[in-house]
Amino acid sequence: MSSILFVCLGNICRSPAAEAAVRQRRPDWDLDSAGTGSWHVGKAPYGPMQDAANARGLDLSKLRARQFAPEDFARFEVIVAMDEQNAEDIEALRPDGVHTPVVLFTDHIGEDGMPVPDPYYTRDFDGCLDLIEACADGLVAGLARD
Ligand code: 4NP
Repeated sequence: MSSILFVCLGNICRSPAAEAAVRQRRPDWDLDSAGTGSWHVGKAPYGPMQDAANARGLDLSKLRARQFAPEDFARFEVIVAMDEQNAEDIEALRPDGVHTPVVLFTDHIGEDGMPVPDPYYTRDFDGCLDLIEACADGLVAGLARD
C-alpha cells in the first residue's frame, strides 16, 4: 500500500481534488491532503471546486482543510505538491535526516516542472480537474509499475 500526502496552498481546491481522484482509483491507499497556508484550516473544500468535482463523481464534501506540518515527512512515503512554490514551502520545513521525496503531481504525466494552475485564481475548475485526473492516472500507473 502507498501512503501519499497531496499538498497545495489552501487545501480547499487542488489537493483535496487530487486526494479524491487518486482515492477513486485506489481506495486501498493511505491518502491525505494539506495546505502550506493556514487560512482555511477546518473548512470544507471550496464550493465551486466541490460542484465541478461532483459533476464527475468525486465527492469532496467530507474533507476538511489542515495545514502541512513537519511531522508529515515521517507519516507519508511520498509528498505530492501541486506547484513549485508548494514544494519550496514544504522543503523549508523538512526535518534533518528525513528523506521523504517531495515531487510535483505533473511529474507523473511527464511534464516536469509544470504547475497544476490554481483554480481559486484562474476560475477554470474543469480544466484543473482534467489535469488532476490525468496526473492521478499517471501516478497510479507509475506506482503500480514500481
Ligand atoms: P488551493 O487554492 O491552493 O488549490 O486550495 C487556494 C485557495 C485559497 C487560497 C489560495 C489558494 N487563498 O489564498 O485563500
